[in-house]
Amino acid sequence: MSFHRIRSNDEYRAAYAESVRDPHAFWAAQAEHFTWRKKWDAVLEWNFDAPEVKWFSGGKLNITENCLDRHLSTRGDKTAILWEPNDPGGPAQRISYRELHDRVCRYANVLKRNGVQKGDRVCIYMPMIPELVVAVLACARIGAIHSVVFAGFSAQSIADRILDANAAFVLTSDGMVRGAKNIPVKAVVDEALRSCPGVKRVIVTQRTGDPVTMQEGRDVWMHMETGFVDADCPAEEMDAEDPLFILYTSGSTGKPKGVVHTCGGYMVYTDYTFRNVFQYEENDVFWCTADVGWITGHSYIIYGPLLAGATSLMFEGVPTFPDAGRFWQVIDKHQVNIFYTAPTAIRSLMAQGLDFVNPYSLASLKVIGSVGEPINEEAWHWYKEHIGKNNCPIVDTWWQTETGGILISSMAGVTDEKPSYAAWPIPGVQPVLLTAEGKEILENDVEGLLAIKFPWPSIIRTTYGDHERCRQTYFSSYKGYYFTGDGARRDSEGRYRIIGRVDDVINVSGHRFGTAEIENAINESEWVVESAVVGYPHDIKGQGIYAYVIPEKPITDPDQARAEILATVTKVIGPIAKPDKIQFVSGLPKTRSGKIMRRILRKVAENELGSLGDTSTLLDPAVVEEITNNRL
Ligand code: PRX
Repeated sequence: MSFHRIRSNDEYRAAYAESVRDPHAFWAAQAEHFTWRKKWDAVLEWNFDAPEVKWFSGGKLNITENCLDRHLSTRGDKTAILWEPNDPGGPAQRISYRELHDRVCRYANVLKRNGVQKGDRVCIYMPMIPELVVAVLACARIGAIHSVVFAGFSAQSIADRILDANAAFVLTSDGMVRGAKNIPVKAVVDEALRSCPGVKRVIVTQRTGDPVTMQEGRDVWMHMETGFVDADCPAEEMDAEDPLFILYTSGSTGKPKGVVHTCGGYMVYTDYTFRNVFQYEENDVFWCTADVGWITGHSYIIYGPLLAGATSLMFEGVPTFPDAGRFWQVIDKHQVNIFYTAPTAIRSLMAQGLDFVNPYSLASLKVIGSVGEPINEEAWHWYKEHIGKNNCPIVDTWWQTETGGILISSMAGVTDEKPSYAAWPIPGVQPVLLTAEGKEILENDVEGLLAIKFPWPSIIRTTYGDHERCRQTYFSSYKGYYFTGDGARRDSEGRYRIIGRVDDVINVSGHRFGTAEIENAINESEWVVESAVVGYPHDIKGQGIYAYVIPEKPITDPDQARAEILATVTKVIGPIAKPDKIQFVSGLPKTRSGKIMRRILRKVAENELGSLGDTSTLLDPAVVEEITNNRL
C-alpha cells in the first residue's frame, strides 16, 4: 500500500506505523507520484551531528515541471491561482495552469535575459499580486534560489537579507495597495540598495502606477522586458538536494538566519501534507490567508497546492477592509472549500462581533485550519461554531519555517481533533518530549521540550552561508535530535499540544522575532542606553512585546520618547515588530555576572508579581521593586 491518500483513522495508524518501520520505502512510494528526470540513487542519507540530511540524492527534477507542466494535459484550463484584489469591487483574476505556465516561462526568460543564472540568489520583495507567484516559480524554473522578503519589512531588513545571501537581483513592484492606502514598495527597495552595491538588476512590476525612480542601467520594468521574450523556457534540471529557496527567520540571536530548503524533499513533503492534512479533493478551492513572505505562503499558497493541481486563492487585501466581514465575503464569493488562517486573525475578527459573519452563508466550507501560534480554546470554539457551522473539521497545524511543511496536525475528518491540540504527528514524523537534561520522556500525560528524532523530507538543510549556526541552533542542544524550540504536552492518548517557545523567541500575531533582534533595534534609538524585551499574553496577538528601556537621559516627555523608539524599530525591522508597551526603567535586574534575569521581567510583564522568585542574587535587588511599582 502506498498510503498516498489517507482516508480513515485506521489507514492513518497503518501509514504511521509503516513510515516508522520503513521510512525509505514509505517516502519512496510518495516520491513515485512526481515527474523525475532521473530517479534517486538513495532515498535518505542522514546524520544529525553534522548535520547532513539528503533525500532522494542523485534524483533529478524541476519542481515547476511538477507544479505546472505535469498538469497541462489534464488540468490546463483549470484555475491554478484565483486572485482576489484588495478592492472588493475590483475584478478577480483566474489564472489557469496553462496561463501560469506561460507567464512563468516568460518571466524566467526575462530573468535569463537579465543575467540570472542557476544558483544565483534572487531577492523578491513584492506584495500579494499574481506576479509574486510567477516570480517565485520563474526562479525555480531556471534554478535560481529565491529569497522572498515579506513586503512589510523595512529597507534595513531587506538590505541585511540581500547582503547575507549575496543576492545580485531584486524583483519588486512600484507600490502596493492595502486597505484604503497605496504604499510605496520600490522606494523602500531603493533605500535598501544604497547599502547593497552588489545588486546588478532590479525588475519592477507595475501594480499601483504611482511614480517611482528608476536607476539607469540597474532598474528595468517587467512589462517592457516581457516584450523581448517568448514563452519557451525548458525547466533547468536540478539535483534533488540543490537549494530551492532561502527564507529568513528569527531565532534567539540578534540576526535572522537564512533557512535553506532543497528541491526534492520539499516537493514531496509539501504535496503530501497538503493533500492529506486538508483532505484536498480535486476541484476544491483552497484559501490560505498567509502572505507569501512567510513559510506558510511558500508551502501552502504556492508549492503544495500547485503540486496537487489545486486552485489556490491568493488575497491581496487585509481582513478588515472594507470591513471585518471581508474574509467571509470572499469565501462566499469564490465558494471556498478549505480555509486556512491564523489564530490572531480569528481572535481579532471574533472581537468584531457576529454582525460581520452573519450576512454570509459559508456553506461551501468543508475544512478549516489554523497555523502559526497556539489557538486558545475560546477562539477554537468560535471558529468551529460560527465559521465552520459545526460542520467542518478544524486542523490545527503545527510546524515551522525550518520544517518546511506541517509536522503535527490532525487530518481533516480522518483523525480526531481536540481543541487547542495540534494532535497527531504526520506519517514520517517522530516527535519526542525531552527533559531539560535531554532525556526522552516515554510516558503519556506529560510535558517536555519538543524535539524530532528522525528526518522528514523537508527538514532544514542548512542556514545560508553558516552551516555551523544551523548545527548549533537546532542540532546541538540535544544530541541526535532536531530541537524545535517549543515546549509541548502529550495527553494520555498521545496527542500533542504545543505550549509555546521555550527560547528567547516571541510569536506576535504568528510572526517570529528574537528578543535580541528587537532589543538591537530599540538600542539604535538615541534615547536608549539599554533595553530588555519579553513577550506577554495578548488577547488578540497571542503574545505582545513588552520592552524595558533605560533612557539616555531623564525622560521629560515619555510619549515623545516612546514614539521615537517605535519609529526606530519600524525603521530597523518594520512596523510588525513595534513593542506594545515601553516601560522606562533606571536599571535592569542583572546577576552579578551581568546576565539579565528575563524570568523576572517576564513575570512582571505577565502581572504575576507574586511569583518573582529569589531576587537576592541580583546585583541590585532594588531595581525589581521600581520595575514592579511602575509596571504598565
Ligand atoms: O512556536 C511555534 C509556533 O510558530 C513557531 C514557528 O514559527 P514560524 O517559523 O514563523 O512558522 C509559522 C508557520 C508555520 C513554532 O515554533 N507555531 C506554529 N504553528 C503552531 C505554533 N504553535 C502552536 N500551534 C500551532 N499550530
